[in-house]
Parts: sequence; structure tokens; C-alpha cells
Amino acid sequence: MTANPDPADSVLPLPDGKAAPVRHVGLIMDGNGRWAQARGLSRSDGHRHGLDSLRRMIRHAVRIGLEYVTIYSFSSENWNRPETEVSFLMSLLRRFVQRDLSEIHQANVRIRVIGDREGLEPGIRQLLVEAEQLTRANSGMTLVVAFNYGARDEITRAVRSIAQDVATGAIEPDAVTQEMIGDRLDTSGIPDPDLIIRTSGEMRLSNFLMWQAAYSEFYFCECHWPEFDEAAFDKALADYSSRERRFGGLSAKAL
Ligand code: FPP
Repeated sequence: MTANPDPADSVLPLPDGKAAPVRHVGLIMDGNGRWAQARGLSRSDGHRHGLDSLRRMIRHAVRIGLEYVTIYSFSSENWNRPETEVSFLMSLLRRFVQRDLSEIHQANVRIRVIGDREGLEPGIRQLLVEAEQLTRANSGMTLVVAFNYGARDEITRAVRSIAQDVATGAIEPDAVTQEMIGDRLDTSGIPDPDLIIRTSGEMRLSNFLMWQAAYSEFYFCECHWPEFDEAAFDKALADYSSRERRFGGLSAKAL
């Protein structure tokens, strides 16, 4: 990983020479299990290869100058998987932080973790805090790690914290705004994702960044996460750059 370029360069050229800014990409890294099954491998093998793919995609994202990448690594619903798989995913997170943190730090990448930490074992919580603290002053790409994350849980926690302030009289009900809710989400201070990529052919959000994705563009590809590569990433970004984002308004052509 090399230190990423100035964020001002984080635009992708359109075919006609114009540029569509893409600051933030969300990755739903689906299909590790199916990829492994198709090869007669275990689901753990699939996740292990998924981590290799993740490393390559982080390097690529840094190289092309993305400002934010959010990775859906473990959802609040993933606890419903067999215990062996859950503990393997926990060990994979440990491996990722222990082995990759220094490379990530060297590449000037800042780590932010979103999700409910209370539900995680203290050793993992500690590792996540260390990763955030080590990289907090980095000025390059921000890697947002969604771990034990679910959007409904995130929104519920935000609403609860506002409700507490209303109950104590610290804020009036009429003072509750979209900005206030956004500020109480785990992603406070992070721009909404421009593009959400989901691998493996499923076309749903699965409780990922539901508030933040209100106007995100979606890109679905058939390939499973372990085979998602630089070319596939570039193809998704090129597809994004041809989209017209209206945010509920009208096309410039229609005005
Ligand atoms: C979904 O594929 C993937 C996950 C639940 C885990 C994603 C994890 C990685 C990509 C490895 C990196 C992990 C960490 C913790 C940094 P799936 O297993 O649901 O695939 P399937 O739908 O084919 O069964």
C-alpha cells in the first residue's frame, strides 16, 4: 500500500472527460460461502479468501484515491450463524487487525469502526480501539469497518440517545432534525456513501447503512467476493460515473 493521493484527486474520469466525484464506497462482501462451496472448500476457507480479496481492494482503493470505504464485515444478524463460523469470523477480524494494521497505518489510512461494541468480547473491543487510536491522525483514506453492525440497531441507539435528551429537557422535540439524527449515528462526520457495491448476485441492502444510503447508487455484480478484483472494482466505479444523481431534484436537462 502506498500513501494515497490528495483527496482532491479522488474523482474518476468520465468517457467525455468530465468527472463524477466518488468519495465514499460501501462494500457488501457477499458470497464467500458459495465461492467455497463451489470449490469443495469449507466456509472458513471462503472467508479466508474473502480477507485476501479485502486486502487487495483496500490497496486498490488507496491507490485510486477514494476518501472513504466502508466494509460490511460482520452484521448484527451474523450471530445467527453456527457458532464455529461466528468464532472464525471473530478470529479473522483479529488476524486482520494484527497483521494488516501496520501496512494500513503506513498507507496513511484512518480506521473508524461502526456497530455495537458492547456485544463484542473485551479483547476484540480493545483491538478495535487500538486500531482507531493508532490511525486517528492519518489524513488519507478512511476505512470504515462495520463490525457487529446493523442499521436498525444503529438508528435505534441514535433515537434512544435523543429520547434521553428530550426526557431530561436538554432538547425540545421540535429541535430534532435530520442533521441531529445523522450526528448521533455511528457514521457521524462521514459523508453518505455515493456507491454501494454488493457481490454475489443478491440485490438487497441487508441492514447496511440504511439511513445513509437514501441517495446512494447501487451496483450489483454476479461474482462472489473472493473473486472480486481490481478490474471488477474499476468496472463498478466506471458504471457509477455514468449515473446521473438527482437527489430527488430534476435532471439539468429538464430545467
Ligand atoms: C458474506 O458472505 C460475508 C460475510 C458474512 C463476512 C465477510 C468477511 C470477509 C470478506 C472477510 C474479512 C473479514 C473481516 C472480519 C475483516 P457469506 O458467507 O454470507 O456468503 P454466502 O452467502 O455465499 O454464504
